[in-house]
Amino acid sequence: MINSLKKIINKFFPIRRILLTLPSRIIFGNTISFPNNIKPYFHKLNFIKRPIYKALYNSRNSEIKDLGFKKIKYNLNNNLIKSISAKFEQYISDDSICKFGTDKKSRHLYDPLKYIPEIKDLEILYKNEAKNFYSGEYKVHSSIAWRIYSDASYNKENKKYLYSNYWHFDDLPKDLLKVFILLSDNVNKNSGATRVIDVPTSKKLARTFKFVDNALPSITTPRVDKYVYRNDKINYFEGNKGDVYICNTPRCLHAATIPEEGKIRDLIQVELYPV
Ligand SMILES: [Fe+2]
Repeated sequence: MINSLKKIINKFFPIRRILLTLPSRIIFGNTISFPNNIKPYFHKLNFIKRPIYKALYNSRNSEIKDLGFKKIKYNLNNNLIKSISAKFEQYISDDSICKFGTDKKSRHLYDPLKYIPEIKDLEILYKNEAKNFYSGEYKVHSSIAWRIYSDASYNKENKKYLYSNYWHFDDLPKDLLKVFILLSDNVNKNSGATRVIDVPTSKKLARTFKFVDNALPSITTPRVDKYVYRNDKINYFEGNKGDVYICNTPRCLHAATIPEEGKIRDLIQVELYPV
């Protein structure tokens, strides 16, 4: 009885969410909750600091505001990223601090800043972009590092859901920035590069219902894929160890990519919010 009730609720859950997020879809062009869409307006009520920072940092356009993401190539000392990568390699196989995710296809190191404090030294790569985006200071909300593995469904049309590999918006406050720091070399669309759709295209896909809901992948994936492949709208977070991407994930449709057989992809992710 309880199980059949659960099945009915699960079946209708996406429909409920689609109805609840209609205002967000129409007004903001995304499917995150309405409160998450309006939280940034309250963050901006800091009337004293904001104008000073605006004058200091808002003099140039922000690619992150317009497109939703930006790549920053690693240009610091090679020993720094080598040391971070070596420590990650050591910790990721340590069962006392790392856990496998769904189907053992990902492995997570929570709070990597605690284990690899040098990660803080990478902040210089993205600090100014983040300040420019916020017209002010920000704080590191959380950090996580993980490895993703291949799966037999990587080249199938219906890929298994493993680690956010279906198109979605992150249902978090709209001004969240996620910093992706690559910890693998030769990250590309075959070896697990994150896929991202720019803000104007994501808005269009949400408003035209080409993007329906991430809990309905059999309907949503072919509709989004058809549009983005035909119009060449997928951006892959490709690169080498130390390369950084900043992404405003609540405004950009995005998805993980399952690496092809024998490949892995390592990453550190840092979440930023304005202060
Ligand atoms: Fe996500």
